Amino acid sequence: MSKEISNHNLYQRAIKVIPGGVNSPVRSFNSVNGDPYFVKKAEGAFVTDVDDNTYLDYVQSYGAIILGHAHPAPLAAVQEAVVNGSTYGAPTLQEVLLAEEIVERVPGCEMIRLTSSGTEAAMTAIRLARGFTNREKIVKFSGCYHGHSDSLLAEGGSGVATLGVVGSLGVTKGSVADTLVVPYNQVPVLDETVAAVIVEPVAANMGLVPPIEGFLEGLRKACDEVGALLIFDEVITGFRISKSGASGWSGITPDLWCFGKVIGGGLPMGAVGGKAQIMSDLAPTGSVYQAGTLSGNPLATAAGLAVLKYLDDDVYHSLAQKTLYLAQGLEQAAFDAGIEIQVNRVESLMSIFFSDQKIINYDQVKVCANNGKYTKFFWSMLRQGISFAPGPYETVFVTVAHQEQDLDRTIQASKIAFSQIS
Ligand SMILES: Cc1ncc(COP(=O)(O)O)c(C=O)c1O
Repeated sequence: MSKEISNHNLYQRAIKVIPGGVNSPVRSFNSVNGDPYFVKKAEGAFVTDVDDNTYLDYVQSYGAIILGHAHPAPLAAVQEAVVNGSTYGAPTLQEVLLAEEIVERVPGCEMIRLTSSGTEAAMTAIRLARGFTNREKIVKFSGCYHGHSDSLLAEGGSGVATLGVVGSLGVTKGSVADTLVVPYNQVPVLDETVAAVIVEPVAANMGLVPPIEGFLEGLRKACDEVGALLIFDEVITGFRISKSGASGWSGITPDLWCFGKVIGGGLPMGAVGGKAQIMSDLAPTGSVYQAGTLSGNPLATAAGLAVLKYLDDDVYHSLAQKTLYLAQGLEQAAFDAGIEIQVNRVESLMSIFFSDQKIINYDQVKVCANNGKYTKFFWSMLRQGISFAPGPYETVFVTVAHQEQDLDRTIQASKIAFSQIS
């Protein structure tokens, strides 16, 4: 085996020692029928692969990056922190500062427990809700992703009475038996066996699907009526769509929040937040166990804090304006090419669906994800040096680093891409 560093060579080596050659399935190009590129470096809105192809990047670590790659603010914070050691097994100032920053931004969120990933945050929120309510059932929505813990992988089925189905081999029927899966954008009927309803307040893992009018209010009311907790999984929306995330944006206050991605500034991080009365049930003050050797890691907290400090209302406004500009440009380009698309957008989150219908749930998403048009769009854009996610269920991430000329270049390239889609 040649040790030459090229995309092709690295992929051949990777698939021998890493399943599928990737450390997270979403990175594989399976759903667009190709092989992934291997990143050598990234700066601002661009990534460069080991073959020296540079792409204008709308993947941005699936939303973990909001200022653009290698932004000086988190970079300096990490450089300053790392010389003092990278993990201690003891609490630090930075953890307190990050928790204070989040609590200050999010009305109703009084305490924070830091984790190392969004998966752990959602898993912890569920355990905490069950411990606090002393109930077992949880309700999730099809098409919403909450990380890869067993009970949250359940995906199919509809109606609150329907038992969740196993979403992966290796997940036992027992571990999803208390997970009820219902369609997004429909308020389910709950009863007093339900510990919690977990929802992406703006769904961003089936492309972008905004909540329809009344959906989040309806969930709040339905939970209150039966004493269930409402959990907003804001791992993507948190500190991306507004200074206070989706709860601030929607005006609906859940009982618990899950955060991740942006709050780690590109390093591993997650967090559960909530009302003090509920959060105090976590060990060591309460009896709901949760832990992590690297939780609240000093490098990740330094990076996350630097990013949050940068994100004021002006930055959010500018991000949303850029995304609107891109969305409108792509819509016009598709219209001119005679291609039916729907662009869903909420502030700086957007995605494209190749459909003539307004998309509000996962069943609709699956239909257009399977029509093959996204794959053609993806490859045409990539050949033109623009990288969208290698799959139709992902969201487009515009960052602070994307400039107007980058957006114009994307819109121009999309004209060619749309003309190649029949
Ligand atoms: C809404 C949501 N929740 C949870 C997760 C899991 O986070 P992580 O990949 O950090 O474990 C993700 C990841 O994409 C997510 O989008």
